[in-house]
Order: sequence, then C-alpha cells, then structure tokens
Amino acid sequence: MFEMVKKLTVAFGVSGNEEEIREVIKSEIKDRVDEIIVDTLGNLIAVKKGSGKKIMAAAHMDEIGVMATYIDDKGYIRFSNIGWVSQFYALGQRVKFKNGVTGCIFYEEKLDEMKDLKLSRMYIDIGANSRTEAERKIRIGDTACFLGEAVQTGDMIISKALDDRSGCAVLVETIKTLPKTDNEIYFVFTVQEELGLRGAKTAAYGIMPDMAIAVDVTLTGDTPECKLMEVRCGGGPAIKIKDNSVICHPEIKRLLSDCAEKSNIPYQYEILESGGSDPGAIHITGGGIPSGAVSIPCRYVHSPIEAVNVEDLKNSVKLLTEALMR
Ligand code: CO
Ligand code: ZN
Repeated sequence: MFEMVKKLTVAFGVSGNEEEIREVIKSEIKDRVDEIIVDTLGNLIAVKKGSGKKIMAAAHMDEIGVMATYIDDKGYIRFSNIGWVSQFYALGQRVKFKNGVTGCIFYEEKLDEMKDLKLSRMYIDIGANSRTEAERKIRIGDTACFLGEAVQTGDMIISKALDDRSGCAVLVETIKTLPKTDNEIYFVFTVQEELGLRGAKTAAYGIMPDMAIAVDVTLTGDTPECKLMEVRCGGGPAIKIKDNSVICHPEIKRLLSDCAEKSNIPYQYEILESGGSDPGAIHITGGGIPSGAVSIPCRYVHSPIEAVNVEDLKNSVKLLTEALMR
C-alpha cells in the first residue's frame, strides 16, 4: 500500500487545480471500472454498474496549498492560503507550483514575537532577482503545494497530502479488489473539499445515491499533551459519529459497525470537534442522503508531515469493501 500512497501524495492537486492528481488516479483505475466521468467542477466519478443499491463512495483528491497574490520589486512572492494553512507549519517549508517551479517560505525577520507570525508577514522565495524575473515563472493566482515526499517508518507513513490521498488510496485499492456485487457503486474523487466540500455537493446531486460513505482523515488524541480525543493511530478505521458538518446517519453507523464486528476488523468511533468533511455536503443534497464515513486516524493534519498507520489503511479497505457488498 505504501507505493500507492507515495504515488498519490506526490502528485500536484491544490484545491481548484486537481488536473494532475485526477490523471494519476484515472490511469490507476480506468481498466477496473465500467465508466469514468469527469463532471463540470472536475470530480472524477468511476462507476461499477449494477442493478442493486446505488452507493457513493467518496474521497477528496484536492490538497491544501498557497496562492501567489503579490510579487514585490525584488521578486519575493506574497501569498494567501488555499484551505486551512498554519503559519507555523508553513514556516521553513519548500513549495512547488503547478508548473514545477519550486521555492521556500520564510518570514519578515523584524517581527518581534513569533506568536505574531501571520501568513501576511511571510513570503515565497523562488530565487528570482526582480519582479520581472519572477513573473517569467509565476503569475499571481498560481498555486503551490508543500513538498514532503512519503517515507515509511515502522508502521507509520509520513507525507504531505495524506489528507486525503490516503483516502484516495483506500478507494483505488477497493476498486481493484472489490468482489462481484449487484450494487451500483460510484467511486467519487472529489474536488475542492478543503474550500468547503464544494465538489461533493455537485457530485452527490448529479448521482443521487441511495447512501454515501466518505473516506477521509481525522485527528487523533495519541500524541504528547494533545487535546483529548478517543481516536488513535493503529486502532483501526474510525467510524464517524459526527464532525462540524454532519451527524452521520444512524443506519450507516450501524452498517459500518456491523461489518467491522462480523469481519473482525478493528475499529473505533470518531467524534471530531472541529472541521468538516464531504458527508457534510452529501447528506443534505436533494431530499437528504443517508451518509457516513470511514475515517483514517492521522497525526499532524494539514502539515507536510501528516502521519497515518499502514494497517489502518488496509483495514479501511476491508471495512469499505464489506460495506459496499451489503
Ligand atoms: Co483537510
Ligand atoms: Zn480531508
């Protein structure tokens, strides 16, 4: 599973610019599904046809990043965030623009107190000596992702963009290994989740499934002096109870818990006290769609060193597969 995660995390796909990651996923799955659709917003929808229940399985393929907003006379680039970006995580990081230009992020050193650090006091250095030189490579409006290639240490994979390429990897693996079923399954790799669940909204409306299960990362409570939370890495996939965007449908929670119990898959429950996820948009589409989520426990979310447990990924594939077969 590590190789797949590495392949998916390295691809560029800052929200609104998901072309590259979409092509990578498409080439992985194109021979394994009956139909592939790219909708208006850019969601990649892969269909396994059937006559049974219509199920949507979703994972977002976009990642957080930054957007160039202003280039000064010396060629330094000011930027704003695309999705939630911490100034402290961003400091000292390398970034790569969609066209391949790389740079690094630093801050105005006259800043007195580190706690006053804001993204507006920071800049990207792409090695240009003037505005003209910088503009030959980058225009305002161009986006960049963080760099942070995947490595494995013990059972943990550390990489940028595990939110939510680890979920994409779970979907890809599920597509490749899914036994025959009557259910009609829509595997949806959504866009612009980090900007407010935008892709999931149009995808769900277009498909109008009977039920939906999303796979995304969640926070954990297993690092030194962190906030209290029941979820831990290595404890198995977390079945979402709620986050700030959704209270999961009791039937989906029951279905997932049931599948885990019957197949001896370790699992835990997730109550995420901040942040939203694709089911938040899906469940209030049309007259309402029963929705839930399989969440992958992830440390250091939205940093370039996000960390997930590889056994949790494998068990997420098993759990999703069981649920799609019912
Ligand atoms: Co995220
Ligand atoms: Zn996510």
